[in-house]
Amino acid sequence: MSTPRVLRRAVGAPIDRLDGAEKVKGGATYAYEWPVMHPAYLHPLQAEIAAGRVQAVDVSAAAGLPGVLAVLTHENAGQPAGPDPEQAVLSSPEVAFRGQIVGAVLADSPEAAREAARLVRLEYESHPPDLELRADRDDLRKPAHAAIFGMAEGDLMDGSVADTVQGDVEAALAQAAVSIDETYTTPMYHHNPMEPHTAVAIWSGDDLTIYLSTQGVSLSQQVIAAALGLDPARVRVVSPHVGGAFGSKVYPHGYAVLAAIAARHVPDRPVKFALTRQQMFALVGYRPPAIQRVRLGVDPGGYLTAIAHDVVQQTARLKPYAEQIATCTRGMYAAENRRTTHRIAALDVPVPTIMRAPGESTGMFALESAMDEMAIACGLDPVEFRVRNEPATDPETERPFSSRELVACLREGARRFGWAGRDPAPRARRAGEWLIGTGVAASTYPSPRMSGNSARISIEPDGRYAVQIAAADIGTGSRTVLTQIAADALNVRVADVDLRVGDTVLPRASTAGASSGTTSWGACIMEAARVFRERHGVIHNGRTSVGLEATAQMPENPSAERYSMHTFGAQFVEVRVSEVTGEVRVSRLLGVFDAGRIINPKTARSQLLGAMTQGVSMALHEHSVLDPHTGHVVNHDLAEYHIATAADAPAIDVYCVGEPDPHINPMGSKGLGEVGIVGTAAAIANAAYHATGVRVRDLPITLDKFLR
Ligand code: MOS
Repeated sequence: MSTPRVLRRAVGAPIDRLDGAEKVKGGATYAYEWPVMHPAYLHPLQAEIAAGRVQAVDVSAAAGLPGVLAVLTHENAGQPAGPDPEQAVLSSPEVAFRGQIVGAVLADSPEAAREAARLVRLEYESHPPDLELRADRDDLRKPAHAAIFGMAEGDLMDGSVADTVQGDVEAALAQAAVSIDETYTTPMYHHNPMEPHTAVAIWSGDDLTIYLSTQGVSLSQQVIAAALGLDPARVRVVSPHVGGAFGSKVYPHGYAVLAAIAARHVPDRPVKFALTRQQMFALVGYRPPAIQRVRLGVDPGGYLTAIAHDVVQQTARLKPYAEQIATCTRGMYAAENRRTTHRIAALDVPVPTIMRAPGESTGMFALESAMDEMAIACGLDPVEFRVRNEPATDPETERPFSSRELVACLREGARRFGWAGRDPAPRARRAGEWLIGTGVAASTYPSPRMSGNSARISIEPDGRYAVQIAAADIGTGSRTVLTQIAADALNVRVADVDLRVGDTVLPRASTAGASSGTTSWGACIMEAARVFRERHGVIHNGRTSVGLEATAQMPENPSAERYSMHTFGAQFVEVRVSEVTGEVRVSRLLGVFDAGRIINPKTARSQLLGAMTQGVSMALHEHSVLDPHTGHVVNHDLAEYHIATAADAPAIDVYCVGEPDPHINPMGSKGLGEVGIVGTAAAIANAAYHATGVRVRDLPITLDKFLR
């Protein structure tokens, strides 16, 4: 009798990305690179007005260009209007925003398609667009939900309620020992993953295969099939490797449907469609700008008695999207009297979508700036002020937290950063022309488990375990992390697991979003492994056990309704602000996070570092400029839309504290893909105030804001 092998656990080991070498060597196939025979190339036409309709179309010059195969507009595309206006591409002549797809050219080469698109003559009937986000608009609307997972109203996922009220905020503010009332504004931000959005569409009879750069093949399959009026079983979506996404590839926006519609016009030819960087600024979503009013009141002891967070945000007239900007405030700090509201202004603008930590990254800029302002107003250290207002249970739901080590993050961060002895007075430190300041802010992000997952495990002819789930690795390392989870669950080596993701032929999976991937897919894989081992016992030799298999649905989480589940963190920043130019430089950035058990310290650190860098970028560099007359994003390329580069990224340190979380998933981990961007901008604004005495409440923190 042999006894089962006892292996060193893979979970917890900082192993390298399993697909790292393949990617570096160019062997990983991205959607657009899929080898297909005799493709046609698609180039879209984008509306040159922001509001109105296409009145006349003249394609004669374009159609006559050599190599042009078809010119599509609403007149001949043959696409009916569907349930989702963003997917109903070319179904009507109406124009809802500048840059909307109003046509497309198919040609033998990308160059011919692009040139022909330039030759299409469109005449428009237009009216002046409504483009101004203001908090005093009289047409602000309360959305049905503040989306927890960022889908538009009525789509797929419901979110939490738009408004919450507990106690009497107005009365508490009137009686407060100290109160503040400030407004914070954030601009339009665009995701700019390295890999643009691409689709390769191939029809075989009534069956469609799409190679797509996506965060979720299963959701894409569902959305694309619905838009085309097809049974989802007729649509296969393939996406093994994705070059970044940040939320812009959760929802397939309309470009995938366009590729599929177009492919019907060139029988037997695959259609390849890669958006240009400039097209991405209108067609794949963005973080909506917001105006946030935060009011806080404290008693004489520095304990919060009132918290109010009222949000006005931009959405699109074509399709509403209401981000959960104030929901972070519901659970962060104790206070008897609380209120949060969300209002949307529907404008003639492109459709917004989720972008890394959608809601929390915007909302926590306001709340954590206000917390700093209140700490100063009370004469309290900002770390101590937060610790003092730490809630015992979730203040909104009164549920216990599954785990919450925010105080440990603040304390450990303060220790590592050297916070003790900080002179609270602004402008206290300088080096030549550089004013030096430090700041702190807290981070939080929900740690949800998505439903609708299943996984299959089978032993393949090579004796390895094929672990199959239609999950995604968008560059996060999820392929590696899931392999580690599967190896431990099956009690085999990492090398014995062949993890397969990114294809709808695999068992259905939830989308890589809301930092839910590892929790959802990992829990599902563990369940499949449990069923496999229960059914087949201990496998002593994979090669003699070929063909054994088991499939499992992810079990519901019994803790879901009993606990409040979030990841937490604290970020400490040192900035230098030039007294001469106003230039802001982050010189040090430290993040301490409670993300439960860390499955892979290397990929976890990489996620947090990346998110914190994106937070620096949000704070100091990024800002999409919407022309107030035309509705055009004028800085629609990487030369004019500034993203933090290596030279802008400071020395960043990341530490994790906390114990395995007992409730979120069986691994003990929490989501950590997004929490790292939450709070960074506030910590930088707080540090910039400490350096200069100037409070910037309007992102990004550009140099002009210090030169008054
Ligand atoms: Mo993330 S913005 O939830 O894809």
